[in-house]
Amino acid sequence: MDHHLTPLDVTQLANWKALTEHREAMGEFSMRAAFASDSQRFQRFSLYACGLMLDYSKNLITEQTLELLVKLAEEAQLGDAIRAMFNGQVINASEQRPVLHTALRRPVGDKVFVAGKNIMPDVHQVLQQMTDLVTRLHNGLWRGYSEKVITDVVNIGIGGSFLGPQLVSEALLPFAQKGVRCHYLANVDGSEFRELVSKLSAETTLFIVSSKSFSTLETLKNAQAARAWYLAQGGSEAELHRHFIAVSSNVAAAKAFGIREENVLPMWDWVGGRYSLWSAIGLPIAMSIGISNFKEMLSGAYAMDQHFQSAPFERNIPVLLALLGVWYGDFWGARSQAILPYDYYLRNITDHLQQLDMESNGKSVRQDGSPITAGTGPVIWGGVGCNGQHAYHQLLHQGSQLIPADFIVPVSSYNPVADHHQWLYANCLSQSQALMQGKSRAEAEAELRGKGLPESEVQRLAPHKVIPGNRPSNTLVLERISPRRLGALIAMYEHKVYVQSVLWGVNAFDQWGVELGKELGKNVYSRLTGSDDSQADDGSTQGLIEFFRGRHRG
Ligand code: F6P
Repeated sequence: MDHHLTPLDVTQLANWKALTEHREAMGEFSMRAAFASDSQRFQRFSLYACGLMLDYSKNLITEQTLELLVKLAEEAQLGDAIRAMFNGQVINASEQRPVLHTALRRPVGDKVFVAGKNIMPDVHQVLQQMTDLVTRLHNGLWRGYSEKVITDVVNIGIGGSFLGPQLVSEALLPFAQKGVRCHYLANVDGSEFRELVSKLSAETTLFIVSSKSFSTLETLKNAQAARAWYLAQGGSEAELHRHFIAVSSNVAAAKAFGIREENVLPMWDWVGGRYSLWSAIGLPIAMSIGISNFKEMLSGAYAMDQHFQSAPFERNIPVLLALLGVWYGDFWGARSQAILPYDYYLRNITDHLQQLDMESNGKSVRQDGSPITAGTGPVIWGGVGCNGQHAYHQLLHQGSQLIPADFIVPVSSYNPVADHHQWLYANCLSQSQALMQGKSRAEAEAELRGKGLPESEVQRLAPHKVIPGNRPSNTLVLERISPRRLGALIAMYEHKVYVQSVLWGVNAFDQWGVELGKELGKNVYSRLTGSDDSQADDGSTQGLIEFFRGRHRG
């Protein structure tokens, strides 16, 4: 039986019940006390793989917790599910597709079969197509309509056709090739379009229309606006092929838009949008950092794939992160997960992980359509440190919710400025320390007394100064941001999301919830523009339509 398609109810498993009891028995477990009584806690709960060091010792766990979580993963037949994904089984049941972003990172000579066909030659052929294109661009051989060298590349795409490429090309700016600047145009908001093109010259700009489906409204609208802008600036239809290329699995639609077939880089329906930066959707990355760095990124992800498939669950970084997430979400009532990169270059990782995690595991039914009794994907949020410390960390420290956090920090900076990096690293560590330690009432009172305050003031202020602590976090330390380590880091989160989906029994690779908004958007648009004069189904939407129309009438 394909158990991942007819998933087990995880809440009925023996180890789920054992974890429930264990959670109760843990009662007032204190991380601070656990560190005080075990000098080896860091060594016990940290590990290194693929250029990443994971410290998970600041979690509400004991050896027994981990043992039970690992047993739960075994009981949920996680090993089979991992093999099923890498082998190309149809694990995206609602869309009847295999899920093979991992094939995009495999070396030449490997074989992966989809419907009896080895897909690896196609994968490497597209990589070669990307190589040729990027080489022509970097060598100044790809020229615009006036024979000028291309200096700016604009990626028109949204969701997975934007967030992953933007994350990587900006995270790897220290590796950027000179001469080509990368820009991203995602939203249908005309201001974004105008602000961007005002900085560009059509003669030296190349647009990549990046859309797996080639039917996404925002992307098509921006592609049309870009074409109109290019023509208005002096470009011609005959030279359009020098300025517009596409990445899509819908080659026919890209051609119908006017893009030459040889300028359409294909992708496949076995690559999900939010998992697609490894495919030709990653073209702007390769244009920014060069093809050999792009391949380095693929090999970093491949190394993580190997680790994920071969390391025992208790030493497996993505599996551990996933199990900790389930532990907090399902046994401690956590509803969100903070992602806190302490690195300017990684500032977009929270946005990418929001789509990766929330679009994948924001589900309420299992693969077989039955309702889920466990809680599923958390809200992913966060942002770059130290900035967050002066904004939302207050809630992490003293708010009424338990919010597990992932701190991500490199050991070395590409831009040493005085002792800034030491301060950045110190702040990262001290935040996780403060979350874990907190400040007791006795400590708060002693501190206030130490300042010479009268006892009445000590008692008045002490409750405000108490910080509960015992708030969990992981710290991921990268030796230095590099294509390889970034590839491993992103693949790590992809696998974490998959492991959680397996435990909950959901399909991490469809996104039907997004569709309703798209459908209703068309209806509202017709009413706004007057092509449909019927009333909206509800008074609020109708009122807002009328307000808009009223303002645009005179
Ligand atoms: O609407 C959601 C979504 O389908 C994402 O899953 C996807 O990454 C994004 O839109 C863009 O889709 P496309 O690459 O087909 O334009």
